Amino acid sequence: MTSPLSRHLLPDTGVVEDGRLSVGGCDTLDLAAQFGTPLFVYDEQHIRNRCREAVTTFGDGVAYATKAFLCRAMARLAHEEGMFLDVATGGEMWVALQAGVPAKRLVLHGNNKSPAELAMALEAGVERIVVDSFDEFRRLESLAARHPLPVGVLIRITPGIEAHTHEFIATGQDDTKFGFTVSTGAADRAIGHVQSSTALDLLGLHAHIGSQVFRLASFEEAARVVARAAAPYHLPELSLGGGLGVPYVEGESSPSITEWGDTIVKACREEGVTGKVTAEPGRAIVAASAVTLYTVGTIKEIPETRTYVAVDGGMSDNPRPVLYGSGYEAFLPRSTDATRPREVRIVGKHCESGDVLVRDARVPDDLVVEDVLATPVTGAYGQSMGSNYNKVLRPAVVFCRDGDARLVVRRETYDDLLTTDLG
Ligand code: LLP
Repeated sequence: MTSPLSRHLLPDTGVVEDGRLSVGGCDTLDLAAQFGTPLFVYDEQHIRNRCREAVTTFGDGVAYATKAFLCRAMARLAHEEGMFLDVATGGEMWVALQAGVPAKRLVLHGNNKSPAELAMALEAGVERIVVDSFDEFRRLESLAARHPLPVGVLIRITPGIEAHTHEFIATGQDDTKFGFTVSTGAADRAIGHVQSSTALDLLGLHAHIGSQVFRLASFEEAARVVARAAAPYHLPELSLGGGLGVPYVEGESSPSITEWGDTIVKACREEGVTGKVTAEPGRAIVAASAVTLYTVGTIKEIPETRTYVAVDGGMSDNPRPVLYGSGYEAFLPRSTDATRPREVRIVGKHCESGDVLVRDARVPDDLVVEDVLATPVTGAYGQSMGSNYNKVLRPAVVFCRDGDARLVVRRETYDDLLTTDLG
């Protein structure tokens, strides 16, 4: 693809003037100069727009899946926009609570919640726990005995549908660590268990079928299977999890949150669900809201073989290409509109050949060392899955809005590398 970067891969407030990209009214090259690189630049308005769309589509109860990206500013923002927060570990719960999000606006997930995590949730006042196993029932009930009110639970079911990268494949067999299997009768037993428990209050069923899924027909099919499993119980709520895909590279497109939600809700209604139908998107809220800025440090041309462009980050700030073979685009925010005829491989600074950010990138011909280079659609599962591999310092995160750049996560320092090291 030699064409310039498509605008739909940029955050909502992305504006190009004389080739230079600004996000949230902040010039990205100025941000790189002020905060250094690598830098996660988030468009606050973009996140707000997607949260509002989710709340409008699903109503109260829709949750933001914090695993996609979480810091206190993000937790507050999603909460301000009326979303619940899906937290999948004690750590995510802790950050959300520290952000000031009321416990009753949290939904606790996890296939192996520890007694300490469950106790923390009950003490804080979390009212929605998505139970994943019979072992968890035992743990929860022994804690709930000391708890004045019944604990609100949703039961995570596995409806026999697996999501693959771009489509669902219905399988007769459920081979997953998550949830209670419908086909083996485990889901029915779990529901029966909660219905007869005085310590637990059954709020509804939950299912999450996969992530980065584009086909609405697949969501519809999944919604119908889950709705049928839930039908006999007339429960107040059905949560269909997250999973809406987003375009990462040229040529991809995805349904909007509205189209996704309308499809799910319609399918459930047609199957006779009268209770609340809700969801918990992560990627669709934040992925396209951010770009990562890097500085090009080394360009290695191997004649007739390949050109490697090495930047100052890598698999520690975006492990998705290495983990999933995920594709990204690259561009120069000094000439965002430039055509990109040059084929290169964009790599990081880590000590392994697998440290690839963009395997088959197209960049402008005049790319040089010290250029700021950007990858779009890096707002989900980049910073949150980042690491300190090679003791590379985690990047800073800025939220940009109306010309203001707010540093919400500062860049790590070498001292941070020793905070847990007792010597
Ligand atoms: N709810 C549950 C129970 C989940 O397990 C997930 C994601 C979500 C909601 C949010 O899904 P989303 O809307 O973001 O697709 N690290 C992978 C994605 C893992 C998703 C895990 N669960 C990636 O980078 O593609």
